[in-house]
Amino acid sequence: MNSPDPESLFDQIADALAGPGFIVLDQPLPESLISGLIRNLQAQQPVLKPAGVGRQGDYQLNQNIRGDAIQWLEPGDSAVTEFLSWMDTLRLAINQRLFLGLFDYEAHYAVYAPGAFYQKHRDAFKGNPGRKLSTVLYLNPGWDLVAGGELVLYDEADTTQLARVAPECGKLVIFLSEDFPHEVLPATQLRLSIAGWFRIKAL
Ligand code: OGA
Ligand code: MN
Repeated sequence: MNSPDPESLFDQIADALAGPGFIVLDQPLPESLISGLIRNLQAQQPVLKPAGVGRQGDYQLNQNIRGDAIQWLEPGDSAVTEFLSWMDTLRLAINQRLFLGLFDYEAHYAVYAPGAFYQKHRDAFKGNPGRKLSTVLYLNPGWDLVAGGELVLYDEADTTQLARVAPECGKLVIFLSEDFPHEVLPATQLRLSIAGWFRIKAL
């Protein structure tokens, strides 16, 4: 599928964030960028570290809460640089349309081994002030739908499932960090992604 013209893509994203508060896009980034990110992630595998929960004082490793291994993205690799610049263009486009005052973007690779999951949680909490918009980009070529590994989004009151997203290659999910409890279900295959957050300046 050809990527739509960027302005109409940004309009579509802004409309969704102003309405339901989340959007699932099938293939918004160039295919060559996705394959560059997959190659870069494969080269990173030895340095991936088990992800922790919380920040600073209450940081802890707990595989019963989240079982992924992560590596924060740093510019350097050309695919990573292109990805961060794509996200920065999106940041400015959203600010223009919604006046959210998004200030920066942080992102990490995440690798879930078979059986690993991330319990239901919210991305903006007291240890993470300033997270305004969450993004997840999936990097799993030929993902088998029976393998599980869906992202499940719940409504703010945490009573209804709003979406179940299979982690198929190139899909990008964007949602308001404070508004949607969500979880990652275990998969029978290795599950690769980039999770990221646009931040506002913490008050
Ligand atoms: C996260 C997260 C969702 C996913 O890293 O906070 O919720 O689908 N990831 O990987
Ligand atoms: Mn999350």
